[in-house]
Amino acid sequence: MSQPRVIITAPVPADLREQIAARCEIIDVPTGSNLLETLGKEQLANIDGIICTVRSKFDESVFDAFPRLRVVSNFAVGYDNVNMPAATARNVLVCNTPKVLDGAVADLTFGMLICLARNMVNGDAHVRSGAWAGKGAPALTHDIRGKTLGLLGMGRIGRVVAETAKAFNMKVIYHNRTRNTEAEAAGVAEYRDRDALFAESDFLSVHIPLNPETRHSVGAKEFAAMKPTAYLLNTARGPVVDEAALIEALKNGTIAGAGLDVMEQEPLPASSPLCELPSVVLQAHVGSGTVETRRAMIDLAVRNLLDALSNTRPQAIVNPEVWATRSESINA
Ligand code: GLV
Repeated sequence: MSQPRVIITAPVPADLREQIAARCEIIDVPTGSNLLETLGKEQLANIDGIICTVRSKFDESVFDAFPRLRVVSNFAVGYDNVNMPAATARNVLVCNTPKVLDGAVADLTFGMLICLARNMVNGDAHVRSGAWAGKGAPALTHDIRGKTLGLLGMGRIGRVVAETAKAFNMKVIYHNRTRNTEAEAAGVAEYRDRDALFAESDFLSVHIPLNPETRHSVGAKEFAAMKPTAYLLNTARGPVVDEAALIEALKNGTIAGAGLDVMEQEPLPASSPLCELPSVVLQAHVGSGTVETRRAMIDLAVRNLLDALSNTRPQAIVNPEVWATRSESINA
């Protein structure tokens, strides 16, 4: 039997690439390129698996071009780049990289939170420009201890952010579709309804996935409900926040500032009004972007791919119903 053919669009280190090459034929495609335009029809028809970043989009027409596809192994925990009903309808297993990035994303969330509260980015510019000698020290900033951190979403990442906040003596409140009674019982966070979450938080951090229901779910109404001294943090997905409404809220002083690792358009164009606002701290979608975490993610993504292609249950499956059907037919 011929080896499975796999497309790689994610950065796979040499040792892991060797593991794939020992069992599969590899077709390299640059990250973010359009798969249908890059590959010929015949190549597309013979692909069994793909390991990719969230920059590869999988909608109905893409799936239709890959009639043999068995697995999309996403090098990310988020999978909003994949039309899940389309994948499941075609029996394509979708895998992701949960858990291994929780700490890194929580750390970046906190890094931005402290930067905002202590005005560190502007403080750095103040020192570098020599303004310290001329104008003296910059204006006083704010404590984070004793303040309230609101978490919109209490999944795995939200939970680690909550634990981190406890080390800073912050009060943590959360809103989630389903209540996390375990976190509540452990004293990590108190539940609030959605309106109360926005109204009470000094820092409001977004930790929900992007899907049709959550797109632009944080917008003008939510900013109006927030304290004018409050900050928004987003390390989840840019389009969860209505960016135009956020820019308005920042310009009008409806809220005090924002820390954004994700934006509606990535890479963020330098012409974005966000780049002009001193009350904003920006990062380049690097929540998981540490050497250690990215290695753990790619380890998991490669394992997911190889397991799926050898009919072993992958560790992290987004649509287990596909696996259930597949294992029934394997065992039949
Ligand atoms: C990064 O954004 C991820 O979803 O892992």
